[in-house]
Amino acid sequence: MDVIRVSGGARLAGEVSVVGAKNSALKLMAAALLAPGPSVITNVPRITDIAVMAEVLRRLGCEVTAAGDEVGVRVPERPGAEADYDLVRQLRASICVLGPLLARRGYARVAHPGGDAIGSRGLDMHVGGLARMGAEISGEHGFVIASAPDGLRGATIWLDFPSVGATENLLMAAVLARGATEIDNAAREPEIVDLCRMLTAMGARISGAGTSRLEVEGVDQLTPVRHTAVGDRIVAGTWAFGAAMTRGDVTVTGVDPAYIEIALDKLISAGALVETGPQTLRVHMDERPRAVDVVTLPYPGFATDLLPMAIGLASVSEGSSLITENIFDGRFMFVNEMLRLGAQIQTDGHHAVVRGRERLSSAPVRATDIRAGAGLVMAALCTDGVTEISHVHHLDRGYPGFVEDLQRLGADAGRASVPDAPEPTL
Ligand code: EPU
Repeated sequence: MDVIRVSGGARLAGEVSVVGAKNSALKLMAAALLAPGPSVITNVPRITDIAVMAEVLRRLGCEVTAAGDEVGVRVPERPGAEADYDLVRQLRASICVLGPLLARRGYARVAHPGGDAIGSRGLDMHVGGLARMGAEISGEHGFVIASAPDGLRGATIWLDFPSVGATENLLMAAVLARGATEIDNAAREPEIVDLCRMLTAMGARISGAGTSRLEVEGVDQLTPVRHTAVGDRIVAGTWAFGAAMTRGDVTVTGVDPAYIEIALDKLISAGALVETGPQTLRVHMDERPRAVDVVTLPYPGFATDLLPMAIGLASVSEGSSLITENIFDGRFMFVNEMLRLGAQIQTDGHHAVVRGRERLSSAPVRATDIRAGAGLVMAALCTDGVTEISHVHHLDRGYPGFVEDLQRLGADAGRASVPDAPEPTL
């Protein structure tokens, strides 16, 4: 098992660049399925989630190649239609092949991804929307089976909640459906806008990208393209919070700061100096941060994926913060690990009250998901000793070259392999 060891006390300072967003690149790779032939996605992060998506596509008959930050996906005339549980359990986002496969093949059988360590994650809006477009959907032996032998037809779909995944799946189904589709209460994340851009370049007819009403006029076929993924706002936000927590001075390049405007505004309220440019942001903090309250919401609200960083910041701030999570029911699961670091946190339902301490206390902790792992690393920088973070495969799923970036910013951090604890025997 790999662990990351972090010595507390360092101040993050310097420049770090972020590459394309995981949550965009994964969907762009799935979107390639919509057109036979070779598509290329650039600015793709080298992380395990992308490798798993590449394998999902290979099993569907695509040829997938990776060189530097480019991923090539050569799609056959007739792709396969099944995604098995052994891959889907490693990558919940593989459910996003459901829409494109149904649109291309009129049939798709994709393993039900189930929940994960941030809580239960339903599919009702994905399947409800596809059903409105004429698909017959059933669940059998852990699979979602969707069929539309006569093709999908445009429909008006009202989402109960602006789900990122459902918006993407329905959008990718609608671009090849017969007639017009309207998705109301659609998600507005920059990654959705990025997907709309790629689909439009492929020949899709979409209006309303970035608003809560997407209108799609179905076309008969799409053509492959070359597309550059949008910069990763969550990785950028992670460094921004890390700078504030360690009273550091970090410049992040490769991302539009407008995508994390609310998060940066929280850092300003906490006492940070924030400067922004077209694809760059700088966070500079000299004093101990002041406590700020945070409420997560769908974009453009404060991103749930930055919640662990907000809890980390609150844990070392002066005063008490009220942190409210509105997207995932299990997002506070990692709080137990923060308690091991001496953080003072009380949770009640979807609220957490955090009383800040000047310094946290080093202890072995476990990354429970991608973002919790990053939050724990940032918190470890604020401890009085050496913290060992285990289960770092979660971090590898979303943060390319994380330890190298930490070192570049002046942290005393390293990665090591340790033997797994022996199984107890009687
Ligand atoms: N939901 C339903 N039914 C549905 C769809 C969603 O109840 O049919 C619920 C979920 O259970 C959840 C909420 O709606 O409580 C939001 O889910 P959403 O569909 O918006 O999220 P997602 O598509 O599953 C993506 C990102 C997450 C990010 C969320 C919210 C990817 C691969 N994942 O998940 O990223 O937190 O949007 O912004 O794009 C991460 O990168 O670490 C991560 C978890």
